[in-house]
Amino acid sequence: MRRRRNAKKKAKKNTTLRALTSGCDGSILIDSTKGNKAEKGSPANLSLRGYEIIDDIKEALERQCPEVVSCADILALAARDAIFFAGGPVYDIPKERKDGTRSKIEDTINLPSPNFNASDLIKMFGQHGFSAQEMVALSGAHTIGVARCSSFKNRLTKVDPNLNSEFANTLSRTCSAGDNAEQPFDETRDDFDNLYFDALVSGDGVLTSDQTLFTSPRTRNFVNSYAQNQALFFLDFQQAMVKMSLLDIKEGSKGQVRDNCHKIN
Ligand code: HEM
Repeated sequence: MRRRRNAKKKAKKNTTLRALTSGCDGSILIDSTKGNKAEKGSPANLSLRGYEIIDDIKEALERQCPEVVSCADILALAARDAIFFAGGPVYDIPKERKDGTRSKIEDTINLPSPNFNASDLIKMFGQHGFSAQEMVALSGAHTIGVARCSSFKNRLTKVDPNLNSEFANTLSRTCSAGDNAEQPFDETRDDFDNLYFDALVSGDGVLTSDQTLFTSPRTRNFVNSYAQNQALFFLDFQQAMVKMSLLDIKEGSKGQVRDNCHKIN
């Protein structure tokens, strides 16, 4: 009975496919199919992981309260909670996002590149309504986690004038273990703190797009402020995250609540 109801609903939902959501719409969770290479398949997204955690949350929610909570909301809330558990700020975000019905590898061309300089980053974030300061605050998410050698090795071959020689040795040692070797962004890869900004001030930014935030006069003051004042970083970060979580999600936007985060209904 439930299956028949779902089939009917699916047919109806498919008529809204052209009304696409984009932005923070859970499209990264969709798997590629024979006819469609999804965002997930892009080299820029290959190191993303933890999909099984979203699946577990979705399953538990569907058991309790079917077809209500979108995958996009689960992802946004999981990111918020992960930041809190890592010692970062506590904040709330608006809910009731809809899941998008488009996920195409070609759209990932719009992601910022790790080779961008500050002007490129300011321009790209500006196109989505973010100020230079908000862009720097958001980049502070690199206080968590790692980059693989493949994301920064070009700094070692084509001499990057912003890379200090001692740190170049550190990066070279990491890369001696291959393209997938991991370099933490700062000294505390599991803690959400402001040491990422300290690293930039010391010239120890891992990606070109990290170090440029300190070398560029357009963004250096923000880096200095966040390195000196963690509370200020937390405040600006959480405000910018709320803004990002609403990116291109308009009130009443069409979309769906996926039954399964991996597939469009
Ligand atoms: C400013 C432009 C940005 C660029 C160019 C950029 C680029 C990158 C790159 C290249 C990596 C390493 C990927 C790898 O080698 O596997 C990375 C990791 C990461 N990025 Fe960004 N990023 C940017 C902004 C952001 C923002 C706004 C957030 C979140 C608010 C974010 C969160 C992260 C996290 C948490 C990781 C670590 C992932 C892990 O440990 O596997 N990044 N980023």
